[in-house]
Amino acid sequence: MTDKNELAQIGVVGLAVMGSNLARNFARNGNTVAVYNRSPEKTHALIEAHGEEGNFVPSETIEDFVASLERPRKAIIMVKAGKATDAVIDQLAEAMDDGDIIIDGGNALFTDTIRREKDVAARGKHFVGAGISGGEEGALNGPAIMPGGPKESWETLGPILESIAANVDGTPCVTHIGPDGAGHFVKMVHNGIEYADMQVIGEAYQLLRYGAGMEPAEIAEVFREWNSGDLDSYLIEITAEVLAQKDPETGAPLVDIIVDAAGQKGTGRWTAINGLELGVPITGIAESVFARALSSSTAQRSAAQEGQLPAGTIKALDVDKAEFIEDVRRALYAAKLIAYSQGFDEIKAGSEEFGWDVDPRDLATIWRGGCIIRAKFLDRIRAAYDNNADLPALILDPYFKGELEDLIDPWRRVVVAATQLGLPAPVFASSLSYYDSLRAERLPAALIQGQRDFFGAHTFKRTDKPGTFHIEWSGDRSLIQTD
Ligand code: 6PG
Repeated sequence: MTDKNELAQIGVVGLAVMGSNLARNFARNGNTVAVYNRSPEKTHALIEAHGEEGNFVPSETIEDFVASLERPRKAIIMVKAGKATDAVIDQLAEAMDDGDIIIDGGNALFTDTIRREKDVAARGKHFVGAGISGGEEGALNGPAIMPGGPKESWETLGPILESIAANVDGTPCVTHIGPDGAGHFVKMVHNGIEYADMQVIGEAYQLLRYGAGMEPAEIAEVFREWNSGDLDSYLIEITAEVLAQKDPETGAPLVDIIVDAAGQKGTGRWTAINGLELGVPITGIAESVFARALSSSTAQRSAAQEGQLPAGTIKALDVDKAEFIEDVRRALYAAKLIAYSQGFDEIKAGSEEFGWDVDPRDLATIWRGGCIIRAKFLDRIRAAYDNNADLPALILDPYFKGELEDLIDPWRRVVVAATQLGLPAPVFASSLSYYDSLRAERLPAALIQGQRDFFGAHTFKRTDKPGTFHIEWSGDRSLIQTD
């Protein structure tokens, strides 16, 4: 706790769990932290419970909060994305002076951040949209932080954000991502990769549970083992925890008590929509969003079950359990690689579209710690982009091509097994089709071009000479060169 006269190096507006934990993280790392919440009870609760952890300067009005910040003022907004954020931005922009910095640490839609950055800049202040990943634990003990906004703001903000970010091998998991909405864009794609990662982990669980007939506790042990190898990652680690957890009330495996309808706050959906808009085939990410939506379409699912949709011939697993487990591990590694590869493709396309010049090496570096998709193989992803920053696709890096040599056959076997078992595997299967489409000599797009020309005279290119062509389908079917 600090006397009211001392000025704070950083301020946090919005003291729900994420905001409070972030404020505590700043305070624990030697910063004097100004704190404000619209309802003062949350401010009192923070000081009451954690005031001794460092120097806090609580305020009950935005004006007092701003006055308690040293110049250039730096205030992080940790309130609900959308209108609530706009309201706080307006209040801060009103109360602050030129050159002060407003940071939005929520999961804002990057196009909102682009708009806000322009509006706030017109009022003489700086606006930084910063993705903050790692959940409540990360906010307290070290998140990965993805700030966008003016480079000039980063000069001021960098050191204080580095003081609270996760740190891997002495490197803080924070860096300036690029101008205006770049930070929130990259956080959005981070979440899209997270969705795909979580979905394909779920599909692996489903196969071991209902294909191999294993119990959650046994599968938890398998995930614990996988977490010591190529799949070493936060999501694999917590999956083992969730699967090992018994329901405190009934003693049954918790995963069997949880309703199988997945929620989504929207970031994965935004990633899929943006991928479609940019024309980037982020198949695994999109399938994971659809899978969440389908899981929550309970009325349709009940009708399908009651209606007894024909299952066809279900073929029980006829392979050795240990071999199947290893096949699933390798297929999971392959599908995760595709998810990250597609995510990096979307970031590259977004960076080109919006002129941000985002460096994939930066992301591979800061995602190694603190964030939800942190994984050992991010070191390899960083090495891949170090070797060639212009990789046409991450999976075309020599190391990953080598890995895929060892993964492709088990991956195919797992997709066949899922199909024969009648178990849904949208990310396993769509990622394999994406992979086979990428490497195919010829795609059915040739036939699609013919169909489009037939009904819409949309023309087509030829493989043997330049130009654009059309067939007179309704006439003598002669070939016409249109340019
Ligand atoms: C993170 C998480 C977090 C996520 C929420 C809600 O990086 O810390 O991605 O930002 O958005 O946990 O996630 P859902 O979109 O699944 O609701």
